[in-house]
Amino acid sequence: MEFQEFPMEVVEEKNDVHRILDIQIPTIDPFIFSFRNLTYEVKVGSSKSRFPCCGKKTNVKSLLNDISGGAKEGEVMAILGPSGSGKSTLIDALANRIDKHSLKGSITLNQGFKKGPRPRFRPRYSGFAAVRVTRDGRNSARDGCNHVEETLMFSSEFRLPRSVSKEKNKVRVQALIDQLGLRNAANTVIGDEGHRGISGGERRRVSIGIDIIHDPILLFLDKPTSGLDSTSAYKVVKDSSGSPINLHRFFDDFGHPIPGNANPCEYALDLVSELEETPSRTPDFSLIQQVMEGLRSSFVAAIAGLLPDFFLAFVMSIAIVCYFLFLCGFLVARDRLPRYWLWFHYISLMKYPYEGLLRNEFVPLKCFGKGAAILDRMEVEKLPTPLKDELLSSMGC
Ligand SMILES: Nc1ncnc2c1ncn2[C@@H]1O[C@H](COP(=O)(O)OP(=O)(O)O)[C@@H](O)[C@H]1O
Ligand SMILES: [Mg+2]
Repeated sequence: MEFQEFPMEVVEEKNDVHRILDIQIPTIDPFIFSFRNLTYEVKVGSSKSRFPCCGKKTNVKSLLNDISGGAKEGEVMAILGPSGSGKSTLIDALANRIDKHSLKGSITLNQGFKKGPRPRFRPRYSGFAAVRVTRDGRNSARDGCNHVEETLMFSSEFRLPRSVSKEKNKVRVQALIDQLGLRNAANTVIGDEGHRGISGGERRRVSIGIDIIHDPILLFLDKPTSGLDSTSAYKVVKDSSGSPINLHRFFDDFGHPIPGNANPCEYALDLVSELEETPSRTPDFSLIQQVMEGLRSSFVAAIAGLLPDFFLAFVMSIAIVCYFLFLCGFLVARDRLPRYWLWFHYISLMKYPYEGLLRNEFVPLKCFGKGAAILDRMEVEKLPTPLKDELLSSMGC
């Protein structure tokens, strides 16, 4: 065992027996991998331009749109999303596997790669275990005829520097076999579509072993657990990860706590889909509000200009605004207004922002209760339901 010498300093001398020592243990900066504003667009086909002189126009598809993130040494960053949302594209971009001219943004390791827009990771820095699933649900074998140990040995000779002796390679492979829980399968052939070999979960772990044999700083795994049963999936994740991610805390901070009995990952995916499906109406609502605000000011200014007396203009403005408020639908529903007042309802400058607000807040929501249930919390609770319905409809609900 090697001992490192740390600088020491006597801070305080109490007596001859006890001394307080200030030992300065050097701290080693952890690796920090980060990516900023990754944007990736591809050209997809071309269509005829509407203007003949302009020839064909090329369509551009955005695969990554301003993506940022990062992970510290020892952390696992999981990318969740529905199929086709760009997870594989992001992993390919981070692992430097896509055309560097069309990827914008920066990828840095310890802020070290400052020259170009993104670094060229040397194989020693990163490992990429792309697990491709074949038709029978297995991931592609590297070489189906080899044994697990042979495969890892070959990979270690290929990936570790030549200066590392064969004995050291062997020790590393044996340690990895134990670490990945592959001891029982060490001398079994990997197998492929035509030949029975190790199980699907073991294959994934061999795949990971091949890519971590040189102890890379970064390991990219694309769908490492797809097609595996829960126990094998757990083992694969355990082998490739440190501590579990605190999803609960993240969602609490995000304002959408995960319900006690829900699966955190499924809840996260549902929430993302829900947020994606809900179109943001806020800009429309803000626009209506701005327009109506301007109209209201102009309306009051017009009355002030038309009437000679300031006080009269003041009273008239307030009276008309009161009518606007009364007939806009907030206090009395439109269907309950006498027909001869309907025109005032439509010219009310408060009708439109009010309806905009209602749509903004309530249109995406579904109602799971019946109106009569509202009355169950009141004194009329004991009335028969048809009577409650009648009561509600007479109130215009
Ligand atoms: N080279 C490409 N040209 C055009 N479209 C692509 C290309 N690569 C990926 N896509 C599209 O980008 C989307 C995201 O793909 P992918 O990253 O594989 O999704 P995921 O891994 O999340 O299922 C898909 O709709 C896919 O069809
Ligand atoms: Mg994918």
